[in-house]
Amino acid sequence: MSMALDKRSVVAVIGSGAMGSGIAQVAAIAGHTVKLFDTRPEAVDNAIAGIVKALARLVEKGRMGAAEADLARERVHAMRALDDAKDAALVVEAVVEDLDVKRTLFAKLEEVVVPDCILATNTSSISVTAIGAQLKRPERLVGMHFFNPVPLMALVEVISGLATDKAVADTVYATAAAWGKNPVHAKSTPGFIVNRVARPYYAEALRLLLEQAADPATIDAVMRDCGGFRMGPFELMDLIGHDVNYSVTQSVFNAYYGDPRFAPSIVQQELVNAGFLGRKTGRGFYRYGDDAAIPQAQAEAAQPCPAQVTLVGTHPLFDAIKARLHDASIPVATADGAVPAFHAGGAIVLTDGRSATQRALDERNPNTIVFDLLLDPAKATRIALARADQCSDAAYNAAVGLFQHAGFTVTRLDDVPGMAVMRTVAMLANEALDAVSQGVCSVAAVDIAMQKGVNYPRGPLAWADAIGLRHVLTVLANLGAAYGEDRYRVSPLLRRKLAANPDGARIHA
Ligand code: NAI
Repeated sequence: MSMALDKRSVVAVIGSGAMGSGIAQVAAIAGHTVKLFDTRPEAVDNAIAGIVKALARLVEKGRMGAAEADLARERVHAMRALDDAKDAALVVEAVVEDLDVKRTLFAKLEEVVVPDCILATNTSSISVTAIGAQLKRPERLVGMHFFNPVPLMALVEVISGLATDKAVADTVYATAAAWGKNPVHAKSTPGFIVNRVARPYYAEALRLLLEQAADPATIDAVMRDCGGFRMGPFELMDLIGHDVNYSVTQSVFNAYYGDPRFAPSIVQQELVNAGFLGRKTGRGFYRYGDDAAIPQAQAEAAQPCPAQVTLVGTHPLFDAIKARLHDASIPVATADGAVPAFHAGGAIVLTDGRSATQRALDERNPNTIVFDLLLDPAKATRIALARADQCSDAAYNAAVGLFQHAGFTVTRLDDVPGMAVMRTVAMLANEALDAVSQGVCSVAAVDIAMQKGVNYPRGPLAWADAIGLRHVLTVLANLGAAYGEDRYRVSPLLRRKLAANPDGARIHA
């Protein structure tokens, strides 16, 4: 176990923009003397003024003592020339995202710093291996990838390039932990962990919109209220900015040689073409501004509770919904059966990646209704349904009434394979499994990264375990069959886990 850098050691931060100023603030609060540099001296002055304000706010909110804040402030210094980095034990680079600029900067730094100084880059998309390649000692260059805003986001991806010394990565990991962050190790690969594994969160939503499953407000509400995500994909893309989000998607897609998994969406490209970049331009998927109407998610009108309900089979999700029906004094008969379903005029089943229409045909029951995955079926406020094209109004309305009387707002999605939450979570887990099987990171790291870097309510691999790996595989295979696209190919690691242990396979030990 490597030790963190000594608190008395000097940290130099090069580039004093959004990220550099946040990194400086965190290092100074952790006790380091921090030296900030920028080619634009006014950027350093702005960064220091911003840190002073941020410290004052922490004191105001009672999160930090006034004396402690004064000391942190006194530890931050402007650096007017790179030579002043000569006493640094760690240099963190957060300049523009440009390989040549970063290479030139590190070459200069190598001439200035002491032999055991660690050189770290905050790049979010450039190969750490490539940044270090021309250094005399590439083994001391490592990625230290913070998330925006740095003081609030706990994740730090510690990225090892091909030449990075393990001890250097371990020291940066321990140092990030000592700064109160949640570090994870990852190998330098396109998108590292978060920017790779998160792609399906946007991509599947854009596909759902392209296929007219529902409007953005409805899909966002389903992802929040059924999936437990803090923000829906469309409001999140509007916040990130479509120019930024589209360019990250393109860069990951190109870096993986056009793997259809990562294909950008023409829906998003059109927003970029239009200059509808999201919140910052007042319009993206939504409109912003004082007079902008807030679009409401679709919700079905009230229906009576069906007279008779039978639960076939047992399954944690169905059992939790049955408990809600019980609490609402709605009697539910039970029966044995292999495929869990509520029967209340039609068959109400959990999506397995087939459309309801396909499933109605396969199972010879026209009255088939599918529902979407719920993160917490005991507490969820909304449930999403899709009906087979062959389904009668009476059978569908009985399903709507059933869930309404269990306390759900019922939202209808058009009948696309895999619905919204299920197909997104299955694809997130699939990507996470590929990252693990390709040695990018550990199982634990990917789950921490997605929870701490993008606030997912559960790590995708823990979530896959909770759904059941067999079901995740079925969803992906059915999506693959429905679309005939390589995009939905199943991670070999998922197949392997299930082959080794068909009934009890889990990703987490
Ligand atoms: P920014 O544009 O806010 O700040 C960059 C600063 O670097 C500017 O003040 C600029 O004057 C300065 N600079 C440019 N060339 C320089 C050089 N050769 N030497 C010294 N200073 C120089 O950019 P931001 O957002 O802070 O990003 C910085 C780095 O962090 C980039 O590599 C970016 O990809 C990465 N990053 C950004 C995140 C974000 O959400 N903004 C998240 C994670 C990483």
